[in-house]
Amino acid sequence: MSEEKVRIFDTTLRDGEQTPGVTVTPEQKVQIATRLSDLGVDAIEAGFPIVSHGEMQAIKTIVNSGLKAEICGLARATETDIDAAIKCDLKYVHTFIATSDIHMKFKLKMTREQVLERAVHAVEYAKKHGLAVEFSAEDATRSDRPFLLQVFKAVEQAGADRLDIPDTVGYATPQYITQVVNDVRAATKLPISMHCHDDFGLAVANSIAGINAGAACAHVTINGLGERAGNASLEEFVMALQCLYNKKHNIKTQMLYETSRFVSNTMGIIVQPNKAIIGENAFGHESGIHTHGILNNPLTYEPISPELVGRKRWLQAGKHAGAHGINAMLAEFGITPTEEQLKLIVEKQKDVADKGKAITTADLLSIAGEVMHNAQFEEKFKLYDFHIVTGMNIIPTAVVRLNAEGKDLISSETGVGPVDAALKAIQKIAADVASIKIREYKLDSITGGSDALAEVSVKVEDKNGNIVSARKANEDIVVASVEAMMDAINKVLLKKVLYSKS
Ligand code: KIV
Ligand code: ZN
Repeated sequence: MSEEKVRIFDTTLRDGEQTPGVTVTPEQKVQIATRLSDLGVDAIEAGFPIVSHGEMQAIKTIVNSGLKAEICGLARATETDIDAAIKCDLKYVHTFIATSDIHMKFKLKMTREQVLERAVHAVEYAKKHGLAVEFSAEDATRSDRPFLLQVFKAVEQAGADRLDIPDTVGYATPQYITQVVNDVRAATKLPISMHCHDDFGLAVANSIAGINAGAACAHVTINGLGERAGNASLEEFVMALQCLYNKKHNIKTQMLYETSRFVSNTMGIIVQPNKAIIGENAFGHESGIHTHGILNNPLTYEPISPELVGRKRWLQAGKHAGAHGINAMLAEFGITPTEEQLKLIVEKQKDVADKGKAITTADLLSIAGEVMHNAQFEEKFKLYDFHIVTGMNIIPTAVVRLNAEGKDLISSETGVGPVDAALKAIQKIAADVASIKIREYKLDSITGGSDALAEVSVKVEDKNGNIVSARKANEDIVVASVEAMMDAINKVLLKKVLYSKS
């Protein structure tokens, strides 16, 4: 008989929304739920109905949106919370109460007997109202084991459909999780979920240990969002299950990256570049040794193919880069230097990198142009300067002066703010050569303070559907935005010129 698929219970919209500083509007919650369902998650914890009217509204809309995933809502083990879930038209509730001594004594101020009674009553109440019930013993991993098992057995008797083992403060190890799951499986017959937090970076490993010990489901979040250090990341958990443990699930892995980007943009939480699977660098290569290997056979330095998770491999110029990588990067633009020219290009770009400068594609092409005496590879647009007027009660206005393909041009535009005005002025000049649309604009602060280094990423599209991205950092967000936009336009134009040639 084939093995059951591991059930994916996504709590991005509940535990993920508890990430400090994150709140999303009801409309955004519905958009995220739709993406999650399309991704193939089995269940979505859409929120915590009792927390606000907006939350209830959003959950109700999600419940009635006809999504394929089951929709669940969180409720403390009280009638009021369960009533709030029922008001959202939910048919599936995740109810919880803490079972660890520290929570019972200092938070709930309840005895074990009171907690046990409350848990049983909540499950009976929810079942009486026709709900499917997943019961969580909050802080299960720090709970006295016999008491935990007593509570689980009692809620099973009361009609609970599923049990969840939360590692609420991420304190467990994979070995410990294995023991808890074994004990819970020996004590009850209900399907078990894992709910692991990442305080020690073990949330994914712990969730997998739970599954290997016989748990049927894991609570996970996109990008590992969640309270404090977050929850187990859906992307990492699913890919490890599939690739390292040969387990089945319903996730469409090719949609992982786009879903991660959507959630990151909507919730405003950046994904660290070196995050597994979905971080920007997860499939990027700079080192010459690695790039050489990758170009011969990607499996030399990639455990999985990037396409499996909806991504593309990319190569980076820089001081670690070697001839094979640089050659491949130039080949993307149809540029084929001789061996001698390639050697010079590699050396020159290393000299630039040694000065601490990150090498953009435009920089590399310009070096290639210089070495190969081909002005066609040079930047098409060169910025001279720009000037901004902004403040309160005036319309932000930008004047940009640049050289576009040998012609000096000047353009002015107004906007909702200085960045908008400056980017519109550049787009106005570019319109004749390559009408450019901004598909994505993202501003991140890299350091703290009002003099923080800001990083701007832009993604632009020309009228032929060519999409390129560029990223620049500067203490001045307008400068970073203008430089990123110029870099992106140059990339689009270079692609256009070099390809139309051949
Ligand atoms: O981490 C936790 O214990 C929770 C519970 C509500 C299940 O999120
Ligand atoms: Zn949690």
